[in-house]
Amino acid sequence: MIAESRRLAAVQTPVIPIVSRWIAETPGTISLGQGVVSYGPPGEAIAALNTFPASLADHRYGAVEGEPALIAAIETKLASENGIAASPDRRVVVTTGSNQAFMAALLAVADTGAEVILLAPYYFNHEMAIVMAGCRPVAVPTTRDYQLDLDGIARAITPRTAAVVTVSPNNPTGAVYPEASLRALNALCASRGIVHIHDEAYEYFTYGGARTFSPGAIPSASAHTISLFTLSKAFGMASWRIGWMVIPAALWEAVNKIQDTIAICPPLVSQHVALAAMRVGAVYPRGHLARLERIRARALATLTAADVPCDVPAPDGAFYLFARLRGRADDAMAVAERLIREHRVAVIPGSAFGTTGGCCLRVSFGALDEDAAAEGTHRLAEGLKALLR
Ligand SMILES: Cc1ncc(COP(=O)(O)O)c(C=O)c1O
Repeated sequence: MIAESRRLAAVQTPVIPIVSRWIAETPGTISLGQGVVSYGPPGEAIAALNTFPASLADHRYGAVEGEPALIAAIETKLASENGIAASPDRRVVVTTGSNQAFMAALLAVADTGAEVILLAPYYFNHEMAIVMAGCRPVAVPTTRDYQLDLDGIARAITPRTAAVVTVSPNNPTGAVYPEASLRALNALCASRGIVHIHDEAYEYFTYGGARTFSPGAIPSASAHTISLFTLSKAFGMASWRIGWMVIPAALWEAVNKIQDTIAICPPLVSQHVALAAMRVGAVYPRGHLARLERIRARALATLTAADVPCDVPAPDGAFYLFARLRGRADDAMAVAERLIREHRVAVIPGSAFGTTGGCCLRVSFGALDEDAAAEGTHRLAEGLKALLR
């Protein structure tokens, strides 16, 4: 009998396939589970398939760091939307999605045994990657409204700390970190000689006037900041596996080794489609915002009604609500399974995101139309009332 390595045995089991199995076993379930959007790529991106392949070269390996035309489009976007200007100090590397970018960032900056600070609740794949890389995740709780606790982060830094990871807008809480907090954290990382990895997967998804800020835009940030982006959410392109990272130029040799070994290059057909999507630009994801904002408002109103036994800080971004259950529930996995089997609504148990001391659930409202989302949150509210009675 072949046993899995001890390193992998320490990694938490992915929660989405477990929830997906419960959903498949319970016909009629409305899923507020997986974090995907309800739309696909722009028509222009799909039309670009007609011009691929153009030559034999399109069947061969491409550049390790990505195709020059896509990198140029990314650099233009970063300069105009994120304030991250192209400079000799930093490089853009196209990756097979931003999960792969995160793993590459980690392997590039953290030795085995190094500590990496995550803000709890955290995105589970970040924690899994850290364990997989033989590093130690150190979870620093966020505040009651899921904002940064800068003093807590400062206290958690040790001589073994390699990096602090932030995600804004946040998965799983929807929190958007103010510019001042991200500037302070980025300066803290610089002063302690550690890397700030910032994930901007949900950059276009903000509500009620909230604004995102890219720490990579801080002039002094280029030497210690890694910024991660993806087309998966904003452009409805999760299956195409295209993201990118902005890295300090000094890390290029390390990232080159990782990317050359793991992906060799991101798929050329996906990069071709991605370029066409980027030419459509921010107007595409922004065109879906008004509908998402209506869904968010209705979901929030349903779940914050006085008789629903949970607390849900209003999120400013992404397409998640992170509900803290009141009452006697303590096993989020069990609550999530019963919500599916008894109330036909799926959410993701908060334990997967590293919540401790309380039972939480992540509600994802990006994938549904308005009526289905309203029915799903209604079932969730009724289910919680019944289960926590
Ligand atoms: C914060 C965050 N980063 C990265 C990803 C994965 O992105 P990609 O599809 O580009 O790997 C997700 C997906 O849920 C996410 O929530």
